[in-house]
Amino acid sequence: MRIISVINYKGGVGKTSVTANLAGELAYRGRKILLIDLDPQASLTFSLIKPEEWKADFEKSGTIKNWFDSMEDGNPISLNDLIYSPEKTKKILEDRGKLNLIPSHLGLINVDLELATELGGANIKQSKRKYLKVHKRLFDGLKSIDKELYDIVLIDCPPNFNIVTKNAIVASDYILIPAKPDYLSTLGIDYLIRSLDELVNNFNDFAESGSGDEVERTIKPEILGVIFTMVQFYSNRPIATIRPFIAQTKSLDIPVFASYIRENKTMFADAPQYGVPVVLSNTISETYRQVVEEIKEFVTEFEKKLNL
Ligand SMILES: Nc1ncnc2c1ncn2[C@@H]1O[C@H](COP(=O)(O)OP(=O)(O)OP(=O)(O)O)[C@@H](O)[C@H]1O
Ligand SMILES: [Mg+2]
Repeated sequence: MRIISVINYKGGVGKTSVTANLAGELAYRGRKILLIDLDPQASLTFSLIKPEEWKADFEKSGTIKNWFDSMEDGNPISLNDLIYSPEKTKKILEDRGKLNLIPSHLGLINVDLELATELGGANIKQSKRKYLKVHKRLFDGLKSIDKELYDIVLIDCPPNFNIVTKNAIVASDYILIPAKPDYLSTLGIDYLIRSLDELVNNFNDFAESGSGDEVERTIKPEILGVIFTMVQFYSNRPIATIRPFIAQTKSLDIPVFASYIRENKTMFADAPQYGVPVVLSNTISETYRQVVEEIKEFVTEFEKKLNL
């Protein structure tokens, strides 16, 4: 079971769309996938579960927020109890792979504030211990999930670098960075990489200084790569104005996926079949076929990188 966080500080760059379609296609190819929606906006959750259904069946006790709350209350529930199998996707997948979800909650925003209040301490040793405890909560929680049940866990992160996002990174083996090839997004990638380094260094520094009685694990999430989304094409290649941004990202010395996902506003804004990632929709018209092909190419490249 490999754990992958899908992150970018920048909002609206396609994190959730990439997560849903990557998961959908991998499951269609027979993989067992668990999605965790860590964004209080809950876009991933609402793309797979109808809001009415979420309100009736999940809001009170079936989301990742309830899990964080239960840890806070000292009455922990297991992440296993929050795993849900969205029905429409399940029908399409038949007996191929598996696509499960731990839903999010709009109140997850408050969890960040509560986690922040747990930081600090009377002395340095105590502060370090609390820092580690607060940041590895999700890592610890994921230990309860049977490793054989899933090939991949994909965590859809919010567009920030708060404690909940940091929990995803600490729990992850890999980081996937969806980005738009424009000026601000490419500046953001550089900043994101530096923030990742800072988190990893801090965490490992504290872990190695032996703040607790047990030996702490150090972390080393690997950057799987940047996947460019919403790419504008002209005659089968990215338009000239965006090519410098792609080149600039490559010069940052981080892996960049060779595949791109092109811009197609109608397709993504109004998914042809509600409750199912676009890539799994069986009502794709000819205009969408090209994007779906690109998503599939990206998934093939992804599988190769992970030696799946
Ligand atoms: N390839 C694409 N072409 C055109 N529009 C897209 C594409 N991918 C995603 N979108 C649209 O862009 C918007 C933002 O996408 P998405 O929600 O996936 O981004 P995000 O990075 O997860 O956003 P947030 O930071 O708010 O979580 C959505 O309306 C989505 O439908
Ligand atoms: Mg999102």
